[in-house]
Amino acid sequence: MDFLSIKLQALSAINEAQDLNELENIRIKYLSKNGIVNQEMKKIVDLPQPQRSTFGQTANQVKLDIEKLYQQKVNNFSKEKSTKPSFFDITIPGRQPKHGHLHLVTQAIKEISDIFAKLGFERARYPEVEWDYYAFESLNMPADHPARDEWETLFVNQKANPKYGKIVLTPHTSNGQVREMLRLNSKPPIRMINISKTYRRQQDITHSIMFHQFEGLVVDQDINISHLKGTLDYFVKKFYGSKRQTRLRPFHFQFTEPSFEIDINCAICHGTGMIDKKKCKTCKQGWLELGGAGFVHPNVLKAGGINPNQFTGFAFGWGVERVYMMRSNIKIDDIRTLYENDIRFLNQF
Ligand code: DAH
Repeated sequence: MDFLSIKLQALSAINEAQDLNELENIRIKYLSKNGIVNQEMKKIVDLPQPQRSTFGQTANQVKLDIEKLYQQKVNNFSKEKSTKPSFFDITIPGRQPKHGHLHLVTQAIKEISDIFAKLGFERARYPEVEWDYYAFESLNMPADHPARDEWETLFVNQKANPKYGKIVLTPHTSNGQVREMLRLNSKPPIRMINISKTYRRQQDITHSIMFHQFEGLVVDQDINISHLKGTLDYFVKKFYGSKRQTRLRPFHFQFTEPSFEIDINCAICHGTGMIDKKKCKTCKQGWLELGGAGFVHPNVLKAGGINPNQFTGFAFGWGVERVYMMRSNIKIDDIRTLYENDIRFLNQF
């Protein structure tokens, strides 16, 4: 038999082999010391010298080809053997699919909107890509007003609209205030809770370019500061626990008058600022800052088509991440970790 026929025969036998036993028999038949390939190789001695080298090369190549296919088949069979059980065991418990859960900020948003829903606040969502007008101008901050600097705004590279100005990534959820007044055809009562993504040109361990805020807006007749205080106390007791209290500290915002910062008493030192005669390390003075609030400025009501002599209202805007982290006492070294999608981190919540 010539080498080509030997090779074809051997390869087709290997291809058809059904198990490792059969393969072993084929190996013995063709590749062993006394196998067909070696027998054929012995004929080299009968050949004239010049033909021997080509003969030897062909013989070796045929051997290599057979060995290669043989080895592949052996590997395939071994793999199948290790993964395929020899019988189907119906008593083995099924593999459980992995359970995911909501991102912790999504959980916080749900909790916050549920608490305000109990007070009749309607959940709203307003654009993240916004006109300058709603983000600033309608909020009593005309173009070039220095107060705008505090918002570290990201601008979209587009032509300005003659009426609404430039396009920005909204730096706060207050952009929803005038929009909500207009949506309701300037007809109070208004009780809105607007929760959305916000963007600022600031990035370090305590700031992420994208973060979330929740904005409350109440407009009606005879709304006064006790309504503001009562609403925020209700939220704080539901969210942080019945023993927590708020206090109002005078502040300034362009879109509210008067304006406040809202503080919450510290859970560690209970608002005293001291633990064992030493300064409390968490708050240093008894209170922690939650965020801004105030009475809607008459110019903002006017921008929403509402008569400030007839109606008054209050508003507040706080950071979701901040408020949530203050409750859970989660120490996140770098706030940006929240948005890096590292499952090892997210799994913990
Ligand atoms: N928009 C403000 C900010 O991002 C927060 C704020 C303060 C919202 C007072 C309000 C408010 O509605 O009344 O810093």
